[in-house]
Amino acid sequence: MARHVIAPVGELPPGTRKFLEIDGRPIAVFNIKGEYFGLMNRCPHQGAALCEGPLIGLAQSSDPGEIEYTKLGEIIRCPWHGWEFDIRTGQSYCDPRRFRAKAYPTHVEPGAAVVKGPYVAETVTVKVESDYVVVEL
Ligand code: FES
Repeated sequence: MARHVIAPVGELPPGTRKFLEIDGRPIAVFNIKGEYFGLMNRCPHQGAALCEGPLIGLAQSSDPGEIEYTKLGEIIRCPWHGWEFDIRTGQSYCDPRRFRAKAYPTHVEPGAAVVKGPYVAETVTVKVESDYVVVEL
């Protein structure tokens, strides 16, 4: 799994989202209360730009007339037909087994680790023997 550095933490404060394209895939990254989540910006219903919808909460009811809202700001509502998905997991609440928005692991790394990168050059052992330089491959 390749790493992609998308922004400094300061450019994506809590409650914001950033749209980008990675390897040809439209993706949105959300900061929810300091946690970061990546979601494919394509609704699994009919392909709308899912992540352009409003962030809402999860409405649940245990009794008629009683509505409780949880997960405030953690549910995205598709702008086309209103299907709702959990940003943390991509789960749909209308049909969780058939429809799931693609979620991508997203996290914060310290700048030193990002600068260092995963790039490692192949090294070879070099030693000096009686005034001759020898490279071992
Ligand atoms: S395209 Fe998203 S709910 Fe229909």
